Amino acid sequence: MLSRVAPDLEHAAAAIAARGGQLGSRLIFVDETESTNDDAKRGAKDGALHGTVWLAESQTRGRGRQGRSWFSQRGENLLFSVLLRIACAPSRVPPVSLACGLAVRDAVAAALGDDASVLVKWPNDVLIKRPSDGRARKVAGILPESTVAGARTAHIVVGIGINVHTRALPEDLSDIATSLAIERAERGFQGAPDRASILADVLAALDHDVEHVAHRGLGLVHDRLSRYDAAFGREVDGGANGVLGIACGIDPDGRLLVRNAEGIIKHVSSGEVRVRMI
Ligand code: BTN
Repeated sequence: MLSRVAPDLEHAAAAIAARGGQLGSRLIFVDETESTNDDAKRGAKDGALHGTVWLAESQTRGRGRQGRSWFSQRGENLLFSVLLRIACAPSRVPPVSLACGLAVRDAVAAALGDDASVLVKWPNDVLIKRPSDGRARKVAGILPESTVAGARTAHIVVGIGINVHTRALPEDLSDIATSLAIERAERGFQGAPDRASILADVLAALDHDVEHVAHRGLGLVHDRLSRYDAAFGREVDGGANGVLGIACGIDPDGRLLVRNAEGIIKHVSSGEVRVRMI
């Protein structure tokens, strides 16, 4: 357990309770772990309740999507995983993941104080567009991992990493990644972002949307998703299949809509393609 809790996380439990939701009412907070997603998956096996959250100051084997690692300096950022005991069709996991992206977007936008510049990049990233150069950089990533029992999910673990206090990024990342502190400074805002409030805001937004999306699909959040869709109008790269076309929206099942050179619209799933932001 933590020997000393950082000041901006001290009131995390109180901030979560103040929003009155179910998610995060059980908060397991450690100084260091291998990966909060692995902790949550172990917890799920051991009977942890819906909405339990694992939060860490650092991870020794933090994981990103597609086998990548997720690196974060101790104490700078938000690293947490939420256990959702939701029984839904496995095909609803991508829409749930997009709803999580929106929840993170909303919390990041509130902390930044600039709503229009914070976007969701299909399938799982949150980006901030910097006014000085117009480029969108990644501020947060989401790693959903589901366990299926029969034809339904037994549970979904949603791992979330948000760059909050990081001030300096390695040169090779500074064009593609950012943090709330960097973007607030870019806008001339005073004061540091508060991790407890951001965490509580994410959990409250998840509480609001996620079960609905898992059982009824993206309908409720689709308009907001379209408004903040970073991929819209961008080139979509089909990897070995060559360039596929231009992103033109997200369908109700959470697949990316891509218009090819012949004007035909394809529905593509995550993992099949890459959206080019630069
Ligand atoms: C991505 O953008 O590739 C997803 C990154 C997800 C990182 C978070 S940090 C907390 C949780 N634990 C992990 O090991 N990964 C997720």
